Amino acid sequence: MKRLLLLFALIAPLSINAQIKSPDGKFECSWATDAAGKPYYSLTYNKEQIIKNSNLGFKLKPETHTDFSANTSKAVELDDFYSGFEITDVRTSKFDETWNTVWGEVSKIRNNYNEAAVTFTQKSTKRYFIVKFRLFNDGLGFRYEFPSQEKLNYFTISDELTEFKLQGDNTAWWIPGDWDTEEYHYTKSSLSEVRKLLPSKVRENSCQYVFSPTGLQTPLLLQTPNKTYMVIHEAALVDYSGMGVEYIEKENSLKVALTADAVGDMARLQTPCITPWRTITASNNACEILDSKLILNLNDPCQFDDVSWIKPTKYVGVWWGMITNKWSWSYTNDYQSVKLGITDYKSAKPNGTHGANNTEVKKYIDFAAKHKFDAVLVEGWNIGWEDWYGYYKEKVFDFVTPYPDFDVKMLNDYAHSKGVKLIMHHETSSSVVNYERHMDTAFQFMKKYGYDAVKTGYVGTIQPMGEHHYGQFMVNHYNYNIQKAAKYHIMVNGHEAIHPTGLSRTYPNLISNEAACGTEYESFGGNPPAHTVILPFTRLMGGPMDYTPGIFEMDCYNGSHCNSTIAGQLALYLTIASPCQMAADFVENYEKYPDAFQFIEDVDVDWTESKYIEASPMEYITVARKGKKSGNWFISTKAGINHTTNVTLNFLEPGKKYVATFYMDSKDADYKKNTNHYVIKKGIVTNTTSVTVNSVEGGGFAASFTPWDGKTKLPTLKGALNNK
Ligand code: NOJ
Ligand code: CA
Repeated sequence: MKRLLLLFALIAPLSINAQIKSPDGKFECSWATDAAGKPYYSLTYNKEQIIKNSNLGFKLKPETHTDFSANTSKAVELDDFYSGFEITDVRTSKFDETWNTVWGEVSKIRNNYNEAAVTFTQKSTKRYFIVKFRLFNDGLGFRYEFPSQEKLNYFTISDELTEFKLQGDNTAWWIPGDWDTEEYHYTKSSLSEVRKLLPSKVRENSCQYVFSPTGLQTPLLLQTPNKTYMVIHEAALVDYSGMGVEYIEKENSLKVALTADAVGDMARLQTPCITPWRTITASNNACEILDSKLILNLNDPCQFDDVSWIKPTKYVGVWWGMITNKWSWSYTNDYQSVKLGITDYKSAKPNGTHGANNTEVKKYIDFAAKHKFDAVLVEGWNIGWEDWYGYYKEKVFDFVTPYPDFDVKMLNDYAHSKGVKLIMHHETSSSVVNYERHMDTAFQFMKKYGYDAVKTGYVGTIQPMGEHHYGQFMVNHYNYNIQKAAKYHIMVNGHEAIHPTGLSRTYPNLISNEAACGTEYESFGGNPPAHTVILPFTRLMGGPMDYTPGIFEMDCYNGSHCNSTIAGQLALYLTIASPCQMAADFVENYEKYPDAFQFIEDVDVDWTESKYIEASPMEYITVARKGKKSGNWFISTKAGINHTTNVTLNFLEPGKKYVATFYMDSKDADYKKNTNHYVIKKGIVTNTTSVTVNSVEGGGFAASFTPWDGKTKLPTLKGALNNK
């Protein structure tokens, strides 16, 4: 086959049509060059052309490089790296392996694809790139590879021309395309309506740069007129800028939109090098989209021999108090501005609202120990928070000096004595060079006191000024941070960092990310009730999210309202899967509802098996998962609309009896008024039991299953369980 294609390439100098199929034959990917020698590709799913002939290629920046050894200059004069190509080689191959995850939704993943590596050579310049197409049973990944070559060495991309040309007016679930934030709420509309709707969807953020009137963030969920779901994203983002897409109306096409650096360039490269994968996950079954492992499969295998130090973590924290303005990160109100090493904190008057104080932290450690949590996050423990944000301060934090009321040694010793860890917090305030200067010292400090996980943060304008959160400079920073942390056996949970692209397969110490509106937005005016029912189809396609669920008291201290019922919050522990999962509310609020809190105490955060049972974007998601630690099954529905779940518990082991505990919305539950109206039912079930559970908009249900001891008297559960 290889030889045949090669021969075909040699005898067809102008253009070669060729294609590969997915292992199950459902997808077909084709490529060719047009009359002007422009490379393109297309993708068919179940005979439906979901991506029409779409451009490949780049515009390069014309520039001159000095060759010091030869005392000459070499010019990259031609910006055109998108036309005048011919296909000079095609190599096909197959791959099929099953690999073990370190953590995640499942313990084993099959990586099975057919591949074609197609060489496109620009006749006039002799420059070339290889496009590697990998076709899986759940979609396509392709990337550009630039081998070492005489006519291309150092080069700057001024535009990536890759596009996804669509068939008909697709429906999209989108957030505005921005180079600095993904903290927006989703809109469902046809793509043709984006230009009109986008301005009203841009809510203010501490740092934002909307890159186009029709720019959209990825992962982007689409539905074709034929009802096929498609998610467009990228995988393995390394040493390149982050990708968004721009909707080009007259072409009905989504074009890759890279993030510019401080001087407007999109990526600076040196051969040999590769781009991230451009990915299209597609299915007519919404559950299959959620179940896709394509992005993980496109990433390199785990780089660590020893992963014993990477531990899925359930945590509470000194956090919600600051987010709802009850507490402060800062220690004193004495100073308008502070300088590290100069400001005298010891004689400053405490403001009385500082959350990270010894008493409060001990309270959280005690609670964590009592309820078998792994860890306690403490924010606002270190000096510098008095003017941490908005002033473009370079030396904003040193990451090693605690406030006077936070005894770092005592608190860590106390936590460890109770089998609990503290989680470090490195808010960088986006002063990135400052963080890089301190990183080694900061990680050494963590090891000294026994921390093994850090939550990082990038609030505000990036320094160096002009760089963006998703540019190549920052992509390299986030990856440097993860790899440096790994050297110290430290896990990283990054907030405000780039959308994940599956890199946690390669570096599983990247245990979670934010990169979307999380629970904090419930305190900033509220997330829409359907928000968490779109995130798994979009943001979570690239990797887990530190959504920080678990709010029980929906009326926040600052007057904002969390748009959810308590049962809906419990459901999130399964539908928003993350190996780093918080119970975000105050200890006092959990103590008010010990029966509902029991589910959070029992639920796992890492899984051997997951089964998506039903799903519809923004409407409902039902998933069952088997816990790695407990060995128990759990199920939940998160509802964005009023929804009835009819499910047979056939994921349970046949012939066994289980004690099921269902936590459900009561009949009059309401995400605005009756948020704490829930019912709990406990009883015996088997794998043939069918149940019906009603959930309200913004609500849901969650259930746990433990083996029955054969003695305890309990009713049999079946049929309609609530809202009768
Ligand atoms: C924004 C983060 O998302 C939030 O979790 C954190 O508490 C603040 N920044 C302060 O770092
Ligand atoms: Ca945030």
